[in-house]
Amino acid sequence: MMTGFDERCREYAEIINRAAEQYMNADMFSGRESTGLDRMLEAMAYSLSNGGKRIRPMLALEFCRLCGGEPEKAVPFALALEMIHTYSLIHDDLPCMDNDDMRRGKPSSHKVFGEADALLAGDGLLTLAFETVLSAPDMTAEQKSAAGLALAKAAGCSGMIAGQVMDLANEGRKAELDEVAKTDRLKTGELIMAAASMGCIAANADEDKTSAAREYCADIGLAFQIVDDILDVTGSTELLGKPVGSDGENEKSTYVSLLGLERSKELADELTEKAKAALSVFGDEKEFLIMLADRLADRKN
Ligand code: IPE
Ligand code: IPE
Ligand code: MG
Ligand code: MG
Ligand code: MG
Repeated sequence: MMTGFDERCREYAEIINRAAEQYMNADMFSGRESTGLDRMLEAMAYSLSNGGKRIRPMLALEFCRLCGGEPEKAVPFALALEMIHTYSLIHDDLPCMDNDDMRRGKPSSHKVFGEADALLAGDGLLTLAFETVLSAPDMTAEQKSAAGLALAKAAGCSGMIAGQVMDLANEGRKAELDEVAKTDRLKTGELIMAAASMGCIAANADEDKTSAAREYCADIGLAFQIVDDILDVTGSTELLGKPVGSDGENEKSTYVSLLGLERSKELADELTEKAKAALSVFGDEKEFLIMLADRLADRKN
């Protein structure tokens, strides 16, 4: 029987939180030479183990389930996505980037550990993500290499990193709308699409299902960033757990700065509808992802 939407969200988040705790345990690294390990594990765990919505791992686990796989076996893939995402947030908050002092309801990593260790904690999570994919115990060598490749492409210099470069280049100038769309698809959409790919790889899904999953994630991914930009204006620090008004302060070009709040919300809603339509190949079991798309569009954090 399908558990309720909220219950399933909670279950997925708990699975990821438990796995995060396990992977941040020094026992995982026993036998390795590492004087700086404790300091790094503390800094990595500080950012990874707390508070995030866990959307990317949730998507990976749900697509795995939907395609007939066993989500428990895909947990290392899901956690790797969250490691990459968390590293990107640590670096995104640094003074040389968005210069934000709060994240997930706590002081940002660099405020607690200093810039150098925050940088290294990000590097540590980035690297551990690939170690985690490559040592997933219940996946075949083919699945691990395909998932690692999908993650590398999405996170790397033709994906998320390229988006972050464009995002910074757009500061203080009025970018065109198609440049902002491209930026958002790269900096946020690519990793969300990788969640679809990795969930499908874990289930050995066919081409049709994989491309439908990626299409859904491409659209909710762009909608996700548009809503993030709306919340930067309309949200509260208390609910978001990060500073509001950061984009304005940094003179970012966003959908909101170019089109205004109302039109941006309309576009996010249109993308959400388009995303839901891409799920038809999944039959009745798609209900969770339909609700997830709606919830993300209407979220307050
Ligand atoms: C924030 O991502 C950064 C963006 C890509 C918009 P999330 O909104 O998923 O942040 P957490 O993981 O819940 O903290
Ligand atoms: C972040 O976009 C995208 C990343 C790849 C980290 P933002 O800079 O808007 O994310 P927040 O608002 O700081 O979470
Ligand atoms: Mg940013
Ligand atoms: Mg930011
Ligand atoms: Mg933002």
